[in-house]
Amino acid sequence: MLSEVWLTTIDRVARRVLGPADRTGVPLVSEIRALSELYTRGRHAMHLAGGPRAARLRFFLPRDLPKIEGPLSFLASRGLLPRERTWDVVDLGAGYGTTTLGLARLAKRLDLADTIRVRAIDDDPKALDVLEALAKETRGGSLAGECAAVELEPMVGSVAVADPSILVKGRMIALAGFVMNELFTSSGTSTRPIDDPDRLDVLERWLARITTALRPSGTFVVLDPALREPTRVLQTLRDRLQSKALDVAFPCPHRAPCPLLSRERDWCHAELPLALPEPLAELAREAGLRFEGLSYATLALRNAAPEPPRARDATIVGGPIASKGKVELHLCHDARLTRLDWMSRDGDPPSTLHRGARVTMDREPTAERARHGRDVVITPD
Ligand SMILES: C[S@@+](CC[C@H](N)C(=O)[O-])C[C@H]1O[C@@H](n2cnc3c(N)ncnc32)[C@H](O)[C@@H]1O
Repeated sequence: MLSEVWLTTIDRVARRVLGPADRTGVPLVSEIRALSELYTRGRHAMHLAGGPRAARLRFFLPRDLPKIEGPLSFLASRGLLPRERTWDVVDLGAGYGTTTLGLARLAKRLDLADTIRVRAIDDDPKALDVLEALAKETRGGSLAGECAAVELEPMVGSVAVADPSILVKGRMIALAGFVMNELFTSSGTSTRPIDDPDRLDVLERWLARITTALRPSGTFVVLDPALREPTRVLQTLRDRLQSKALDVAFPCPHRAPCPLLSRERDWCHAELPLALPEPLAELAREAGLRFEGLSYATLALRNAAPEPPRARDATIVGGPIASKGKVELHLCHDARLTRLDWMSRDGDPPSTLHRGARVTMDREPTAERARHGRDVVITPD
């Protein structure tokens, strides 16, 4: 959970940087509700929604900040993050800095880096002003105990360019937090559906160019909303990229086509079992939003030859679903799905076995349904 210092820092920065656009109390709740509807209904309209600035800074930033931990902690557990104490990062569509600050927070907590040099690109200069104010707090200010120091290189401009390699060249890590679903959603004067075939072609090239422009072994982490359409777009792009020998390091434990694409009703997203700090939970309740669990969709691509898949690796892609006498978890492994029954008499599965977690199985299950303890034992990575 985010410590209180985040909320007091955000409050101070909001008062100073947002000026008349700042909101608290009922007007803030209305802004949060309006922005949430925009997020879930018309993502492409988000781009025009620089307006609800208080909702973005005071609510969505601290709510979404821990989401990057999902892919990053897995990469850290496999030794796939940079070994240097200073990281060169590019944040595409950096906004107010949610993803950059989430990365800096994890780097501090796991003692992976002291300084994060971030080229932060956004076409909204006001967003970058907020990010600069927060980044300053990481450099000897109130967030210094929470984050690695963020040194910012703000860059106002579009990331929706045919060849983004110039923007990312030689960086160790590229980030695209909750922005990809907004990109290339119009062609000329007309809007196009998020899964438009031409859009998918453009995005496939965009992702590949960014990944291969990173330094060798560099990683590109994409986060997108855990909604069905953008998530299935991410899964489709994953299939295309990995068939071209790009290394998809997370979340997939295998290199075969995604089994969750075959059923229209499925989408592969993650859910971190993290509670919101009480003041944010209260805002969420008042705005009619969920206040438990953090969901997102993700893809981590590496500029490296794909590592051979390990037969006993799996990702939890469904559940936990409690039913009589058991909790059900769905495992994706070796291009197959296995329904795993965790019997209640064995206690509840630990919170580390959440949707999106990578796990290791002690043996490969042989049937579509398996019982934990009897047929297979899973442990979180
Ligand atoms: C939903 S916000 C996400 C911000 C941040 N990355 C995060 O993780 O919360 C999307 C951001 O992308 C920016 N954006 C959208 N389209 C863009 C484009 N074509 N070029 C640059 N920035 C863009 C918006 O201005 C906005 O700040």
